[in-house]
Parts: sequence; C-alpha cells; structure tokens
Amino acid sequence: MLAVDTANTSVTMAFKFGLGLLLSVWLCTNCHPIHMDCHERFLRISVDPAVAGNDPLFEAVDGASVYPITTQYAAVCGYTINVCPLSGFVFLKASYFSCHTENQVDEVFTFYFNLKVNPDGKEVTYSLNKTCSPSVPWSAREVTCMMNYMEVSVSSDLVCPTGTRKDDWNAVIQTAYTSATSDWQVMFHRGKEHLQPTRLSEAHTQGYMFDLTERRLVFRTPYGQPDSYSTQMSGVPVEVVHTTLFSRQSWVVIMVDLVAACSMDEGSFNNGYITWETPEVLHPLVSGNYNTQVSVGVNGELVEQLVAEERGYVVEKHNATVMISIPYKADGGQRKSSVMGDLYEYYIFPLYVEQISEDEDHMYTRLRFDNMLVTPLLPRPVFTENRTVLEDRVFTVYLGDVPEDVKLTAVQLNGCIYTVPFINSSGHTITEVVHDNHTHDYTVQVPFDHHVVTEQFSREDEAMKVMIDINFTLTVLPENEHFYQHTSVYTLKKPSPPEFEANCSETGIIFKMDHRPFDYLWFISIGSERLTPELAAEHKYNMRNDSQSLVLEVPLFTDGYQYKDFSLKGFLGTFEILVRDHEMSNVQGSTVKTCPFTAPEIIACSTDGMMAAIVDLSQSVANGGIPARTNLVDKYCGPKEADDTRMLFSFSLNSCGSIAKLGKDYVTYENEIFINELHAPRNLFGSTYTGIKLQCTYPLAGLHRLFSKYKFESDTEGVGRIVRDGAHSTEVVQKPMEITAVLQTPVPATSRHTKPVLKPAHRPPIGYLMVPSLLKNLSKKGWCLNFFCFFYPNQMSTARCKF
Ligand SMILES: *[C@@H]1O[C@H](CO)[C@@H](O)[C@H](O)[C@H]1NC(C)=O
Ligand SMILES: *[C@@H]1O[C@H](CO)[C@@H](O)[C@H](O)[C@H]1NC(C)=O
Ligand SMILES: *[C@@H]1O[C@H](CO)[C@@H](O)[C@H](O)[C@H]1NC(C)=O
Ligand SMILES: *[C@@H]1O[C@H](CO)[C@@H](O)[C@H](O)[C@H]1NC(C)=O
Ligand SMILES: *[C@@H]1O[C@H](CO)[C@@H](O)[C@H](O)[C@H]1NC(C)=O
Ligand SMILES: *[C@@H]1O[C@H](CO)[C@@H](O)[C@H](O)[C@H]1NC(C)=O
Ligand SMILES: *[C@@H]1O[C@H](CO)[C@@H](O)[C@H](O)[C@H]1NC(C)=O
Ligand SMILES: *[C@@H]1O[C@H](CO)[C@@H](O)[C@H](O)[C@H]1NC(C)=O
Ligand SMILES: *[C@@H]1O[C@H](CO)[C@@H](O)[C@H](O)[C@H]1NC(C)=O
Repeated sequence: MLAVDTANTSVTMAFKFGLGLLLSVWLCTNCHPIHMDCHERFLRISVDPAVAGNDPLFEAVDGASVYPITTQYAAVCGYTINVCPLSGFVFLKASYFSCHTENQVDEVFTFYFNLKVNPDGKEVTYSLNKTCSPSVPWSAREVTCMMNYMEVSVSSDLVCPTGTRKDDWNAVIQTAYTSATSDWQVMFHRGKEHLQPTRLSEAHTQGYMFDLTERRLVFRTPYGQPDSYSTQMSGVPVEVVHTTLFSRQSWVVIMVDLVAACSMDEGSFNNGYITWETPEVLHPLVSGNYNTQVSVGVNGELVEQLVAEERGYVVEKHNATVMISIPYKADGGQRKSSVMGDLYEYYIFPLYVEQISEDEDHMYTRLRFDNMLVTPLLPRPVFTENRTVLEDRVFTVYLGDVPEDVKLTAVQLNGCIYTVPFINSSGHTITEVVHDNHTHDYTVQVPFDHHVVTEQFSREDEAMKVMIDINFTLTVLPENEHFYQHTSVYTLKKPSPPEFEANCSETGIIFKMDHRPFDYLWFISIGSERLTPELAAEHKYNMRNDSQSLVLEVPLFTDGYQYKDFSLKGFLGTFEILVRDHEMSNVQGSTVKTCPFTAPEIIACSTDGMMAAIVDLSQSVANGGIPARTNLVDKYCGPKEADDTRMLFSFSLNSCGSIAKLGKDYVTYENEIFINELHAPRNLFGSTYTGIKLQCTYPLAGLHRLFSKYKFESDTEGVGRIVRDGAHSTEVVQKPMEITAVLQTPVPATSRHTKPVLKPAHRPPIGYLMVPSLLKNLSKKGWCLNFFCFFYPNQMSTARCKF
C-alpha cells in the first residue's frame, strides 16, 4: 500500500528508490463525459477533462444541505477524488456508507452530487444522482482500504468474538464498566495501551466517523490519525486503528470492537514486476488465519482467475504473507512519461485485491484494497539515427521511439529555432509517423545547401565538414515538461580551390583572393610557374600578400596576357591565374579575367601563329602617309582597319611574305610595312618601305609545329616588336628580347637563292614537322627544310625562311 499523506491526500512515491515523485493523481479508463458506475462497494464517477476543467468541485447533496468534498472531508466521509495523470480524467469514488448517501436497508444506496466546473471561466453545475445495489451480499465484517481512508463495517447482530486475549478483554471491560454512561463512548487501543474513553461526538471532531445503519455498524478513519499505530505483521508494515465502542444501557453494557487495519507496503519493483505484499492476518481481530482466499483485480473490479493468469498477475503465499506481482506493463496499467533531466517513465497499476478469510467462529471477513502501485522512474530513452543518403544531398535524421505523451515542440537546426506548427516552407521538412504500439517518430530532413547548414574545414580530414547540429525539444504532455535530444550529422566534402575576384583597371587587371584556412592545399600559378614573390618581381607583377588577402595586380603587357579582338578602338586582354595541386601537375581551378584595353600601338603574337599589330604611322612617316594605303611584303595583305594615323594588321605568321629567322633557341617571324604613294597605281613597285618591321619571336623549345603552311602551335605567346629602322627606331611595345644573342649557332645554307621569292610557285603538301627533331637535324647537320625555306648564307647566325 502506498503511504498516504492525509494532510493533502497526495500519495508519496511508492517505492524505496527515492524518486520523490508526488502523485496526487490516479488512474482512469476511457469514459463518457460524465459517467457513473456501481462497483461492489462504491460508486465511481468519472469526468472527462474537457468537462472537468482545471478545478472541478464535487459537492455531496442530501435532503438538508450541500457539502463541498474537500480533501479532508473526503477522507472522513468516505469519498476519494483523484485525477488520471495520462488522460486528465477526474474520478470520485464514494463508499456506500459515505456520509450523505441514502441507504435503504443496506441494500439500495442513492447518491446525489453536484459537480461544479469552470471550464471557460463560466461556472457550470451538473446535478448527478445514481442508485446502486451491491450484487455481493455484505459479509459479517468488511474492511476497505482506500487510498485516503480505512473503513470497517460489521453486521450489528454479530456476536462477540471469543476473545483469545483475556487480559485485554478484561482491561476493556473494566474501563467500560466504570466509565460507561448511556452515551456511546469510544476507547482507542494502541497495541497494549488503552487510551481514555471519549464521547462519540468528540471522536467525530477528531476525524473518526461512526455510523449505525439498518443492519451494520460503520467505522471510518483517515490514515495517520493520532490514535492509529503502525506494526509489522509477517514482516509487512500495517497501520491499525483499534477502537471499542460501548454504551451502558441500564444493566447492560454494549461493546463493539472495531479494528481497521491495512497493509502499508509500499511495493517493490523487480525484474519487470511490481510486487505488493499484505499479511495474511492483518490483525488478530480482523482476519482469521485460515481459509484465506485472495482475488486480484484492476480499477476496482476483480478479474477472473483465468484472465489474471493470462495477464501475468501472480499471487503467491509465503509463510503468512500474500505477495501479488503484476508485470509492470500489464493490461489495466498505464504509463506516464516524466522528465528528470532526461526522459523517464513510470507505470501505474490500479490494484484491487480482495481477501476473504474465515475465523474460528466461521465468520467471514472481507478485506478490500483499492490502491495504486507505481513503478520507480525507469529510463526511457528516445534515440536518433543518421539516415542520410549522400546521393540525395539531404541530411535525414530519424528520431524514434517517442512515447505517445511526448511531442516534438521545437527543433534547433544549428541554433536556428523552429517551433510547432512545423511548416515545410523553410526548406527543411519534419514528418511524423504514428505507430500502433503507442510510439511515434519524427524525421527531419535538411538539404545540404540549406542556409543553416555549416561548412567548416577539418584539418585532420583535409576536407570540408558539412554539418548540421540538431537539438530536439521534446515536451511531455500535459505537464509541458521539456527535455532535449541532441545529435550532429555531417558529411565530408572536397574543399573548393580558391577563386579570385578580378577587376579591370585602365592599366591592367587586379586579382584579389581572401585567404581561407585551407588554401594551403593548393599552389597558385601563372602558366606553369608557381606564384611567389620572386616570380611576381621578375614579371613586374605587383603583389601584396597579408594575413587577410592576396592582391595581384598584373599590368597590361606583362607575361601571361593573351590578346584578341583587335580593333583600332581597342582590344581584349585576358589573364588567367591557375590553381594547382602541390605537385604543380594538375590544374584544379582557375580564374580568368578579360578586360578591354586601348593602346596607341601594340603587337601580339598568338600561340596559334597569328600576328596582330596596331601601328601608328604618323610617328614613322614624316609627310603623313595614309594608313589605309599600307600593305605588308605581300602587297595583297593590307590593313584590316585604318584611321587617320593608325592601322591594324592581323595575319598568319606564315603568310603575307613574312620571313622566319631561325636561331638555336628562338625563331623570329618578320614582316615589313610598305606604303603606296598617293594616286600611284597599287603595285609592288609603287610601294615604299616605311621602315617599320613587325616581329614575333617564339622560343623553339615551346614550338610544336614550325614552317608549316597551315598549322602553328606554340606553348607560349610570342614576343612581339614593332621595329623602326634608324636611330632610336626600335619601339618595343612588349618586353624586348635580344634575338641576335640567342640565334648563335651558325646554320650552313643549303639554298642558292639570293633573292626572296615572294610567292611560292607551288604549294607544299599539308603537314608539319615536329620541332625537336628539326632542331636535332639543324644542330647536327646544319641543313634546313626543303620547302619554302630559303637561307641567306651571309647571315652568319641566322637561317631565314621566306613565306
Ligand atoms: C436523477 O438524474 C436523472 C438524469 O440522469 C434525472 O432525470 C432525475 O430527475 C434525477 N433524479 C433526481 C431525484 O434528481
Ligand atoms: C518463511 O519463514 C521462515 C522462518 O521465519 C524463513 O526462514 C523463510 O525464509 C520464510 N520464507 C519466505 C519465502 O520468506
Ligand atoms: C512536409 O513535407 C512532408 C514530406 O514531403 C509531408 O509529408 C508533410 O505533410 C509536409 N508537412 C507540411 C506541414 O506541409
Ligand atoms: C513501435 O513500432 C515501430 C514501427 O513498427 C518500431 O519501429 C518500434 O521499434 C516499436 N517500438 C517499440 C518500443 O516497440
Ligand atoms: C538544446 O537546447 C536547450 C534549450 O535551448 C539547451 O538548454 C541545451 O543545452 C541544448 N543542448 C545542446 C546539446 O546543445
Ligand atoms: C551519417 O550518414 C552519412 C551518410 O551515410 C555518413 O557520411 C556520415 O558519416 C554519417 N555519420 C555522421 C555522424 O554524420
Ligand atoms: C572590384 O570592384 C568592386 C566594385 O567596385 C569592389 O568592391 C572590389 O573591392 C574590387 N575588387 C578588387 C580586387 O579590386
Ligand atoms: C601569402 O601569405 C600566406 C601567409 O600569410 C602564405 O601562406 C601564402 O603562401 C602566400 N601566398 C603567396 C602567393 O605568396
Ligand atoms: C633528320 O635527320 C635524319 C637523319 O639524319 C632523317 O632521317 C630525318 O628525316 C630528319 N628529320 C627531318 C625532320 O628532316
């Protein structure tokens, strides 16, 4: 039996596990809004929480008045009120001998109650009445152990028991004889101690209730009264109130011994069973010690033996103790979640036990226990599971095994709080699935690219950790107690190579990159060379590198530019920065920026063998030639564009009468600009050399194809020069290069031609030669190629080819 605190009728936690859980609430079943049913020894009223509201008040009604059933009044008058923790149902159990019940010859009982509720601030009163007739006849003695009181009733035609304890009996009689008056008097006994008799009315003010019905004498007492005492019977704690009621009617002294005794066992929890014990003999005056029958039930109703066995209820007798064991999840019980930091659960079982015993005088005593058994708090973990499928690019986290009285009320995704009702519009989804076994689960899905997902470099993995931290807020209802379940899931992602932000300026291109902690994984390179302060200095790049960022300014015409879309208005310059792995072999990223530029003069030599040049004629031709009337060596190669002072040539290196000068390490293509006299017929002889040469020089090592009519391929851009004959005539637009210094190896001429042939007589077959083998032959044997290649023997160090 649970320890009952009569002060507030709350029942302290059942077991010795020190749970400190206060239960002022009991069990329930599903009922109609207000339902009344007659049990064997009490009426039960159940009220739906929707009707009951927060503070329902029962009033007992009789012909004379109404009596609010307060906690204290209930214990005195035979009422028990409790609330189901799970469903919120409110129950009133009223003993058939409760104070304000109409009793017709102990066979028909009529109850009248008012139920006052206040669900929406408006008081509503329900008038309730019910008539019950117990189906089981009253035994000679009935003891009922309710949660808040003990009640004993004896048949009033009961004969006095044959006292086995004569001493006690004599003491009582002696006292009764001397103090008995015609008023009924009460005398309490605490074990061997006999207290002074008091008047019935005085006992009544102390909370004891005596009643004489048609055929029975009723005595009721709350637990923990001053005159009660605790003892051990067969090792089980028992609370006893023993009183003798007597009255002297002329020469007869009437005495009745009334003993209320209940097991105070708090129960224990072992191996999945809740076990409750009661002594077979609660008190020598209460239960006889032979022919004891025990039946077990739930919720105030006994169940049949077979059903009890099916449900796993076990009744055992050891020595003189009855042990009742109920599987903690057995039918008839209820579970409840509770938060003590983490989630716990406990089970409540509304045990109902009937014990019938027969004593030596063949009198039957019927004991009933209506009690709550409560398990200790049992850990009840929920769990999370990572159900992410990488291919879906969505984090999927499963939160499972959530009891039905626990709801997910909020989710923190990397600290961003989303609360119920969950909507899908924020990019993530939260879905709930309810199962038959009174659990439900949730699945949270957050796409990898959701704004709350974080990406952080992990040094040990050398990878980006794409991570989401989920903190579930779970709430136990109806108490609204919160607990948290936390998990982190992540996936690793290859970090992206650095990228530069690039802007155009008038004089070049500015690249900027903010350092990231993992940029050490790569090298920055320009072409095939790693960008270092030394390289920047060598190429005249302007590099600033601090702890925050790297800024690289590449002035126009420095190494690494490519030019295209030439027109007299301007051209496009492109610069590319590469990101390579530490072996410098694989390019893993790049930033390319193309900017429009203007320049008065420019010459560009492309990797695919095109020469483009904008030439200012006014600087070179004193009398101001007309740029539109210029041409190259091949007079049919005129400018693509011309204005008053400048013209644009764009042609293949191997065309327009260019010559190639071949040195050991470099080859230089050269053409010359001629101008037609004004009004002169446009022919070769009418052209005048302007003194301007256009040159493109390529390193041979980077050339794949040379002297081919149709193909040209170089690893690098050529270096262009616009050369003006005469003093200070060379104006270098691009980086200067001393060609004579590099064309050192004398190449014996094999050709007898002394004059350039401007136009070849026949076309060569389509094809090209690989430069490395060409070079080998050149250096070893000193002979040149046999097509369109004319050597000037006088040029000491230079092979010349004319196209
Ligand atoms: C008892 O309740 C019923 C309705 O449940 C009502 O019809 C009847 O009048 C009530 N009787 C008394 C005496 O209040
Ligand atoms: C019954 O009582 C005896 C003697 O007191 C004791 O030795 C024995 O262990 C008890 N049996 C049980 C099952 O408690
Ligand atoms: C969110 O999306 C899931 C799956 O697409 C769906 O099952 C769920 O009903 C949606 N919830 C809401 C509130 O729209
Ligand atoms: C409840 O049912 C679900 C679905 O069948 C299952 O995954 C889960 O493990 C079950 N939980 C318990 C506590 O039995
Ligand atoms: C989860 O959220 C709650 C409430 O904000 C907080 O108290 C708790 O520390 C969080 N848990 C973790 C592991 O971050
Ligand atoms: C979660 O699952 C993903 C995909 O299977 C996996 O990559 C990851 O390592 C798992 N674990 C965590 C803690 O995220
Ligand atoms: C590029 O221009 C933008 C806009 O003017 C400016 O915010 C940014 O800082 C510039 N970046 C560099 C590398 O100059
Ligand atoms: C720039 O400086 C950082 C250190 O601040 C260094 O790790 C990095 O290599 C430097 N970059 C270049 C291109 O010099
Ligand atoms: C180079 O010379 C070798 C023999 O010395 C000859 O077989 C080969 O064809 C020559 N290569 C070229 C490209 O002329």
